[in-house]
Amino acid sequence: MITFDKSPALTRCFHDLSLSMVSMQEFLRKLLPYMEKPLTEKEEKDVLFLFSQYGVPQHSLKISPKLLKNHPYFRNIQLKEIQTETVSYKETVIPKRRLMNTDFMKPLGRHLFHYHPLGYFEEDIRMPALHEGHTIWMAPAVSEFTSMEEGIRKGHGKCLTFGLGIGLIVYMWLRKEEVTEVTIVEFNEDVIQLFQKHILPQFPEGKSVNIIHGDAFDYFTEDFLEQFDYVYVDFWESTEDGLPYYTKLMETGVDLPQVDFWIEDAILMDVKYLTFLYLKHVYEGKAPSDFMFQQDFSLAKYARKIHFFFQHLEMTICSPEELLSLIHSRNVLRSILSI
Ligand SMILES: C[S@@+](CC[C@H](N)C(=O)[O-])C[C@H]1O[C@@H](n2cnc3c(N)ncnc32)[C@H](O)[C@@H]1O
Repeated sequence: MITFDKSPALTRCFHDLSLSMVSMQEFLRKLLPYMEKPLTEKEEKDVLFLFSQYGVPQHSLKISPKLLKNHPYFRNIQLKEIQTETVSYKETVIPKRRLMNTDFMKPLGRHLFHYHPLGYFEEDIRMPALHEGHTIWMAPAVSEFTSMEEGIRKGHGKCLTFGLGIGLIVYMWLRKEEVTEVTIVEFNEDVIQLFQKHILPQFPEGKSVNIIHGDAFDYFTEDFLEQFDYVYVDFWESTEDGLPYYTKLMETGVDLPQVDFWIEDAILMDVKYLTFLYLKHVYEGKAPSDFMFQQDFSLAKYARKIHFFFQHLEMTICSPEELLSLIHSRNVLRSILSI
């Protein structure tokens, strides 16, 4: 069972962590009215003022359209408007001056404050997006490219990705000399057919692209994954559906160093907050099991995992540094979800 060697420094650290959560919620509440709508000049100043008030290190909201227009995929790959039974490529317009997220959450400071980098284009931007019903699998959002950069950079040798979308990562991998072949597991046949007919012919030739029509969960096994040098898992739309899918993958117990997950740190954020609240509950001397009953239905499952993990962890936290490294450890959060 986790225990604490209580001290004024540790009490102070718990207090600062709580404050950082409150201040983040306040920041997000103040920001919300400005999101996803065109900003007036006065509103732009208000947003930048909010940033400076909360110490967010971003001093301009303007994003150059070149960021999209010079991106190799959007410069070289033409997508027509196409509709199949389940999916379509449709033109999407991002209106000028609309404030949007340009990346997923980033930590600020050593406590729990996180922010989304934000921005707007100075002109309307038109790009095709992949729709399935109400789900937009892949849109011309800057956040999509920035959040995939690491996966693109790390691709080498035989690469595997779960989730085809518009094949953005596949294209970027094929352009790299160090990538020899690419395999994709995709479960929607229409997505595969659209890709094979309209997108793949525009990709560089000479390297093999294998598409497996199947469910990611059936292929997420050590035996299958070990055939590849690098694996990128991206079959969720956002952090919302990402957390249950990612949890299911963790529950398989498969843990290989060459596997990365799209927006993993953002997905883990709710688990991190819940872990902090659990540890605070224990530090304050409250019954650990009560914690689970205080969570609403959507979080109860994760609260149970957290309780189980810390109940079986023989560790005494003595300093703020130990507390912070525990809360921020990706390995700890992965282990919690794997239960
Ligand atoms: C966000 S998109 C992937 C975007 C892709 N990384 C790209 O570069 O364009 C997610 C894709 O995962 C597919 N998908 C959803 N659930 C899946 C599952 N269980 N197994 C395999 N593919 C799945 C969707 O049909 C969709 O094509």
